[in-house]
Amino acid sequence: MDKSTPVFVAGHRGLAGSAICRELERRGFDHVIVRTHRELDLAQFEPTRELLLRERPRVMFVAASKVGGIGANSAAPVDFLVDNLALQISLLRAAHEADVERVVFLGSSCIYPRDAAQPLAESALLSGPLEPTNRPYAIAKIAGVEMCWAYNRQFGRRWLAAMPTNLYGPGDNYDLATGHVLAALLRKAHEARGGRRRRLSVWGSGQARREFLHADDLARALVLLATLPETLYATLVAPDNCPLVNVGSGEELTIRELAALVARVVGFDGDITFDPSKPDGVPRKIVDSTRIRALGWRPAIGLAAGIATTYDDFRSRHV
Ligand SMILES: NC(=O)c1ccc[n+]([C@@H]2O[C@H](COP(=O)([O-])OP(=O)(O)OC[C@H]3O[C@@H](n4cnc5c(N)ncnc54)[C@H](OP(=O)(O)O)[C@@H]3O)[C@@H](O)[C@H]2O)c1
Repeated sequence: MDKSTPVFVAGHRGLAGSAICRELERRGFDHVIVRTHRELDLAQFEPTRELLLRERPRVMFVAASKVGGIGANSAAPVDFLVDNLALQISLLRAAHEADVERVVFLGSSCIYPRDAAQPLAESALLSGPLEPTNRPYAIAKIAGVEMCWAYNRQFGRRWLAAMPTNLYGPGDNYDLATGHVLAALLRKAHEARGGRRRRLSVWGSGQARREFLHADDLARALVLLATLPETLYATLVAPDNCPLVNVGSGEELTIRELAALVARVVGFDGDITFDPSKPDGVPRKIVDSTRIRALGWRPAIGLAAGIATTYDDFRSRHV
């Protein structure tokens, strides 16, 4: 793909969006269109449509989203459902009107049923009940996947939906109330290290198993997908196929093991305790990344090294 291709990154200041921008820059793309949330509420269709009609991107990454951990999802289910639906309806309708050729819509592995066979294959979509703690968010994301597929079928669009596993990396949300587990653990371990009680308390039993992917590895996968040569791209977006592609590291561990690893990186050597009164979420979640791996992508950042650079980012921004 020509490096002067206009590319719109929706949500460019977020964890995934900022990594996509870094990857586009690294690959030499020099026409990247961005707007902050303050400049433009992408859930508002008319101004979003105006922007896309004016700028005419040929590629769009949908990394704008309302995102949060179990606590935030439980506290505000309406927001997670309605805000995400509004965003994706606005962005995808506008992209259709502006004739955006390639869209990579970002969902999440929570779209898959709670009890689906692991690793979670793309074909597991809608094969059973969802995990209740983030069902409203998952249903919004499933609607986003369905919208991409429906546009492909009804209007001959050629849009993709990528489903990353749990993400982390520089630019993460380290807020204890709204952040995801790894970023929250980094903050807790850092604060526990400096505190008097020297105790790190972790939500849940510690037994849940999770897979983590560095945002920069995700970004390499997403830019690879968006820039695939025509013949390869065409097979992914053929109207008969749900245009879903999982992206996972294949590196799985328990929350207990994760807490120990984070503590080691942070230099916290006090007690790690678990609070089983708090929810674990799904017992195990690892995605089947055969499809993206068949396209030549592999994660490059190991978990310990990735956590170390993320901790550097946390300290540079919050300490
Ligand atoms: N983080 C993960 O672990 C994870 C895992 C799997 C999948 N994903 C997926 O990856 C995507 C991006 O997640 P992320 O972790 O990068 O989220 P994030 O860090 O919270 O970034 C989301 C970005 O979207 C922007 N945004 C939200 N609503 C907007 C609106 N109405 N108009 C304009 N901008 C808006 C936010 O801006 P403000 O902050 O200014 O509102 C923020 O910059 C999501 O689709 C998510 O499902 C994330």
